[in-house]
Amino acid sequence: MIHTKVTKKKFQKHKLGKSLDKKDDEVLQVNQLKLQLRKPGMAENEDVEKDSASWDAQMDYYKNANTKMFRQYELACDRVKQFYEEQHEKQTVAYNIQARINFKTKTRAKMSVWEGLEKLNRLLDDSDPDTELSQIDHALQTAEAIRRDGQPRWFQLVGLIHDLGKLLYFFDSQGQWDVVGDTFPVGCKFLSRIIFPESFKKNSDFTNPLYNTKYGIYSKHCGLDKVMLSWGHDEYMYHVAKNNSTLPQEALAMIRYHSFYPWHLENAYTYLMDDHDTKMLEAVRAFNKYDLYSKNDQQYDVDELKSYYLELIDEYFPKKVIEF
Ligand SMILES: [Fe+2]
Ligand SMILES: [Fe+2]
Repeated sequence: MIHTKVTKKKFQKHKLGKSLDKKDDEVLQVNQLKLQLRKPGMAENEDVEKDSASWDAQMDYYKNANTKMFRQYELACDRVKQFYEEQHEKQTVAYNIQARINFKTKTRAKMSVWEGLEKLNRLLDDSDPDTELSQIDHALQTAEAIRRDGQPRWFQLVGLIHDLGKLLYFFDSQGQWDVVGDTFPVGCKFLSRIIFPESFKKNSDFTNPLYNTKYGIYSKHCGLDKVMLSWGHDEYMYHVAKNNSTLPQEALAMIRYHSFYPWHLENAYTYLMDDHDTKMLEAVRAFNKYDLYSKNDQQYDVDELKSYYLELIDEYFPKKVIEF
């Protein structure tokens, strides 16, 4: 009986793979438009008291600055609104701790990084034969754009594997809300610079006095290493890479924070950063432009590039077979 249930759930998720990918694309589009609409230097004030007004102030600015683009932004936001409502309600401290325990106590799969990429490709794209761009295409486009710019080899590898954590969707996620979307800290006040901040009112941590103050369970400039970010493909892949690779700190930060838009785009939560994070922020921003803008129609020949990337993976993942 239980077996049937699990199989059914897996089958449903398989069918939903494309919808996860579509949601991720819509989230990406929102962030692309937001970046284009943004005034340089906007939201650099880290004062939390003023934060409550910053979302409205930003929206007003966007609306007046470019009406046409703002309309596109609004439409894109409409498409992701429901998704974020669910995410912001369910990403609690309790859920986060449980997800971390699950991660540490289970091995979901044992395979090589390349096999992981192929598996993700199959799971996400098989259900839709008309798909324009597969997961491997996005991975290769990002990696190749980084390589073309003469960036270090570890940086290229980040391009290849940064979204590999989406495998989580087929292991033990509860939905799309704990796999994709912008990330944010849990255990302290949800700032207005997070997209759709009003939807946090349904989160049980919102009224918890332990968690709803500026620092919550953290302390001033404690460092983001100590901060629990909402659980998703970024956090998951960061831990997989940290446990199994020799990738440098910058690479791990790029993987961990690539969806932490409230931080790397909106300059929120600077009061939790330590000196190390200041360096990491530069790295994350350098990576973000490749993630946002390397998506195009160019499809690389996977077989042609495979040997280059297999060698690159071997360089930083000494154990060929790793635990996901
Ligand atoms: Fe991602
Ligand atoms: Fe990506």
